Amino acid sequence: MYDELFTPVNIGKITVENRTIFPPISTNFGKEDGHLTELFMRHYETRAKGGVGLLIIENSCVSFPEGKHGAYEPRIDSWEFYEDWKKLAERLKRYDSKISVELTHEGWKKKGVGFLSEDKIEEIIEKYGTAAEIACKAGFDMVEVQGAHGLIVNQFLSPLTNNRKDKWGNPLEFAIAIRKEIEKRCGSDFPVTIRLAVDDFKEGGITLEDGRKIAQVLQEHYDMIQADIGLGPKEYRLEPISFKQGWRSYLAEKIRPLKVPVAAVGMIREPDVALDIIKNKADLVVLGRTLIADPYWPIKVKEGRIKEIRRCIGCSECIKARHDEDTRIRCGANPQVGMEIDIEPALDKRTVVIVGGGPAGLEAARVSSIRGHNVHLFYDEFGGTLNIAKVPPGKEKLGWLIEYYKNELAKYDNLELHHKRALKQDVLELNPDVIILATGSRPFIPCPPMHNFVYLYGDILRGEVKFSGKKIAVGGGGLVGCETANFLAEDNEVILIGRAPEVAFKVETLTRKHLIRELEEKGVKIMTSTEIVDISRSGEIVIEQNGNQMIVEADALIAAFGSRPFVPFTVENVPTHIIGDAKSVRSIYAATSEGSRVAVSI
Ligand SMILES: Cc1cc2nc3c(=O)[nH]c(=O)nc-3n(C[C@H](O)[C@H](O)[C@H](O)COP(=O)(O)O)c2cc1C
Ligand code: SF4
Repeated sequence: MYDELFTPVNIGKITVENRTIFPPISTNFGKEDGHLTELFMRHYETRAKGGVGLLIIENSCVSFPEGKHGAYEPRIDSWEFYEDWKKLAERLKRYDSKISVELTHEGWKKKGVGFLSEDKIEEIIEKYGTAAEIACKAGFDMVEVQGAHGLIVNQFLSPLTNNRKDKWGNPLEFAIAIRKEIEKRCGSDFPVTIRLAVDDFKEGGITLEDGRKIAQVLQEHYDMIQADIGLGPKEYRLEPISFKQGWRSYLAEKIRPLKVPVAAVGMIREPDVALDIIKNKADLVVLGRTLIADPYWPIKVKEGRIKEIRRCIGCSECIKARHDEDTRIRCGANPQVGMEIDIEPALDKRTVVIVGGGPAGLEAARVSSIRGHNVHLFYDEFGGTLNIAKVPPGKEKLGWLIEYYKNELAKYDNLELHHKRALKQDVLELNPDVIILATGSRPFIPCPPMHNFVYLYGDILRGEVKFSGKKIAVGGGGLVGCETANFLAEDNEVILIGRAPEVAFKVETLTRKHLIRELEEKGVKIMTSTEIVDISRSGEIVIEQNGNQMIVEADALIAAFGSRPFVPFTVENVPTHIIGDAKSVRSIYAATSEGSRVAVSI
């Protein structure tokens, strides 16, 4: 059914076996000094094993230190790093994927490129040549020039950052000069592709019409073009969960037809979406976070094992790690990211009893089952809190993780599912060697629920209590409070009351920005640094802000004040692990990674 995704395509003189690309995704798995690590190599080896057509290594620095883009960015600016690249290429060449590396120079986004001397520009161009020569000699099939995302090539292309009056004022000159320098060093048979800003997504910048013209010229110099976004807001190129799949594939469609292949990028998650793009809009599809969450997506699709795909759920944990914290990337759906270990069969088969069917318990059950233990999983509701987390607008992708585990856990004969809330007695009757308590959390309620006035956010998101055309106050400015307000604001007037100076302050920056904008667009009134001090049955909420007390009148108050760990019982004399929210309330990543780690250790 997906055959068209698996037809070969030529990039210059190189034939790529299928239409999928793993794009550059900085991992921070490298060393601070720019050398590559074992983890770095394994991470890419896993993706090559998964069957991707073209694998592009993350942004690598062509000019150190001025062009460095990220604390652990790999360096490809000097022959000192050649052996690292050679070793990586040798390891990746064991698989069928063609391999490339993204050549990057940070540039001067704020200042623009107007101040650079011509000598300096020539020097940078030569550095691209050296970097490409290192890649070529090391065994890479091609290189990619980063010409988007506001980095140096984009800065030359964009009228917002290039006001030069000399020949470099021609926006295309720099990109063309880089290509020529690479050709001089590596020969004309060595393909060079470009990740191109075909639209800056910023007023006064490159428009899609400009982008189309730029692509027309660059098709004479580059062997493939990825239709990407320029120096505008990051949220359009690292889009949060609520963006529609393949939403920006129109960029590729609009610059076609070209005589070189064009790739579409952004939120392409499911094979049907990828296939539709290949049929109608682009020659190749870029699968970034898609292959972080499941490196085996290409093989699974080729073999028709669609239900086995662990789809990227858009939790943005990877972006939080890379961009908010500049630390190693991690993945909420795939805890193997950053570990890259093979799950080995256990030497001693044990009886493992897991209590809790949220992401922590489900992942612990999956990994324990793969390892061959005799596993029992008790669950009250399969998926746990994911069932309500997926309800607010744009969050339905979270439900994909539940579907994945449903399919996955049905495979194992050594796993018994018990659809019931486990009592201590139930657990002990199974004579467990190890117990895993993944019992999650319970909402924190500073005041008791009051009939007809105070309700729990869970009741709202489960649809047990419904409001329409009412004035609703939501208490709690964390992610849950914001999402509940967003959900209610579809049909009601909503006031969001949070204690902290900012709402959703722990949430990944781009997701947070997007969520707040959505709340504002829906007219949600956001009150920060505000304490709820009293509630009356008649619908008066007394709040305090900056020492002043006020009354908010509402038809209901929804308690979304966060949650507390819930551990219903403990068992003496049996080794017990408490994981996920039951240990401390955190992210999906904390849940799945603890589930995986504990199961690997048994
Ligand atoms: C954690 C993270 C790191 C990224 N690092 C790079 C990078 O090094 N170079 C680059 O050009 N794009 C980078 N990107 C952008 C991706 O290559 C890709 O364009 C983007 O994630 C959208 O595609 P997707 O929805 O398939 O993930 C990064 C994205 C993420 C999520
Ligand atoms: S961390 Fe979340 S957003 Fe990033 S790849 Fe994994 S599931 Fe997708």
